[in-house]
Amino acid sequence: MLIRYQKASDTLASEITPEAIYKKRRALIHGFAALTGITAFPTSAAILSNKGQLNIKPGPYTTNETQTPYEDASSYNNFYEFGTGKRDPASYAQDFRTDPWSVEISGEADLTGRFALEDILKPHALEERIYRLRCVEAWSMVIPWVGFSLGDLLKRFRPNSKAKYVAFETLHDPKQMPGQRSPVLEWPYVEGLRIDEAMHPLSILAVGMYGKVLPNQNGAPLRLIVPWKYGFKSIKSIVKIHFQETQPPTSWNKAAPKEYGFYSNVNPLVDHPRWSQAKERRLDGGSALSSLFQKKRETQMFNGYAEDVASLYTGMDLRKLY
Ligand code: MTE
Repeated sequence: MLIRYQKASDTLASEITPEAIYKKRRALIHGFAALTGITAFPTSAAILSNKGQLNIKPGPYTTNETQTPYEDASSYNNFYEFGTGKRDPASYAQDFRTDPWSVEISGEADLTGRFALEDILKPHALEERIYRLRCVEAWSMVIPWVGFSLGDLLKRFRPNSKAKYVAFETLHDPKQMPGQRSPVLEWPYVEGLRIDEAMHPLSILAVGMYGKVLPNQNGAPLRLIVPWKYGFKSIKSIVKIHFQETQPPTSWNKAAPKEYGFYSNVNPLVDHPRWSQAKERRLDGGSALSSLFQKKRETQMFNGYAEDVASLYTGMDLRKLY
């Protein structure tokens, strides 16, 4: 069951520091810090973390379904930049540097440039949103994410009328991300949404989960969560957001176009060519392994968010546009 709270208010583009000013300010502060030994500039780690705990208010969506234990959500992951095994991200992402971090905003918008993560985050109150996340591999989790509305952020850059899609990109840094040293996917990992999907109140950028800063293996410091789509749309460790007129390429569609489409809405009626999408295993306690033997549950259309998002796809043939 979904419960709605009040919507977060929009914020002004003027609150974001453009790249040139940001760089100058950083240089000044670094000079000041070198002279005095004091860092006056709050880093994203300082904004996000007070001994790992976050300052959060309840968000507009929640569920009373049993939550996946933190241990499973943070140790059974897909993050191919750190390996293809489910346990690889937790093993190999521990030294991944997420601070300082910046995000480049480009394309069809009035305000573009590279922005420090702290400037991206500053005006947004962090909310907890308890969402189901369903992987195309037919397992699912219920996770209390901490983040803010993606639409509220995008509006601050004032996208223009040509901004019909939003493309996202993950960091490309094979030195830090061992999985990128092999061509298992074309790097960097890329994803995209139609602008109305990106602006939908269910779409969020997450910086934490279970009340804490995101563990690296879950996509720190900033990842997308689109709960009505298969998990692979929820791109991790984002460094670029690009507004564009045409539909952007996506990593899994490039890798296997017959298996993964652009939309990738959770749809029990459209099977993956190699397996059914009608049922799923919920990771809701016990080990991930024991849940493999658990009774499967029916997958819901749009992962149970049909009431909220079905209208985005009116008139579309979702068997063709999978
Ligand atoms: N983002 C990047 N950059 N690289 C990835 O390999 N895997 C996707 C998605 N985001 C992936 C990614 C897939 S397939 C899934 S199911 C979810 O992340 C898994 O998120 P989780 O590990 O937090 O459960």
